[in-house]
Amino acid sequence: MIRPFDSADLDALYRICLRTGAAGGDATDLVNDGRLFGEIWAAPYALLEPDLAFVLEDTNGEVVGYVLGSLDAVGFEDRCESEWWPAVRHRHVLVENGDRIDDLLIALIHNRPQPRHDLVTEFPSELHIDLLPEAQGRGHGRRMIETLLAALADLGSLGVHLGVSAENLNAIGFYRALGFVEFDFDGVSHTFVRSLTNWQISARGYRHGVDQRAE
Ligand SMILES: CC(C)(COP(=O)(O)OP(=O)(O)OC[C@H]1O[C@@H](n2cnc3c(N)ncnc32)[C@H](O)[C@@H]1OP(=O)(O)O)[C@@H](O)C(=O)NCCC(=O)NCCS
Repeated sequence: MIRPFDSADLDALYRICLRTGAAGGDATDLVNDGRLFGEIWAAPYALLEPDLAFVLEDTNGEVVGYVLGSLDAVGFEDRCESEWWPAVRHRHVLVENGDRIDDLLIALIHNRPQPRHDLVTEFPSELHIDLLPEAQGRGHGRRMIETLLAALADLGSLGVHLGVSAENLNAIGFYRALGFVEFDFDGVSHTFVRSLTNWQISARGYRHGVDQRAE
């Protein structure tokens, strides 16, 4: 079942983000602090934009996936700068010249990338999706993306963008299958975009999605 995020789901989001953090694979053995991935790519979206956060529950009621979005990626980053990063930076102190994966993730918390002004005019919104291995390859990813895109379209978004590691061939194939188009490649990750100006299935998106069971 796809349902809206609830604050009680937060720990599951951190776990899923870690289990899929290595270009779609398990990053558990790569880091000492398993919450770092979720601090960057999951929790702020769910907590600051809960209307654009959905989870996939299996038949036992376990959360096995999520899709998260921000309506306006530039505005979202500004909001994180005042409402999210200060506390996270306090929890994770910067290590100068540190070269562990933990250090690189902490550096990303302290030194945020510049917003992509070149793409946000047409594709202002952003998304992240991660499903645990047992939930993959069964159509849930497509339904979750449709759920989020319908919610974004309902809020008036013109389009959406996302980044995917060049190593994550599975996700690249998935986004292409769903009609996303490659915007550019910086040597490390591909940026994919999808326009929502002709979004036709708003009515079927979220309301349809809530009936889907993760079996
Ligand atoms: C990537 C991910 C979200 C895809 O979700 P999923 O539930 O496995 O994908 P679905 O079963 O819904 O597939 C949807 C469509 O994409 C297609 N597809 C999926 N993977 C594909 C691939 N590697 N190559 C080509 N097409 C692919 C499917 O055939 C399906 O097509 P159809 O709907 O026309 O039949 C999921 O596998 C996942 O969470 N992976 C780990 C984390 C991750 O990589 N997240 C993305 C980070 S950018």
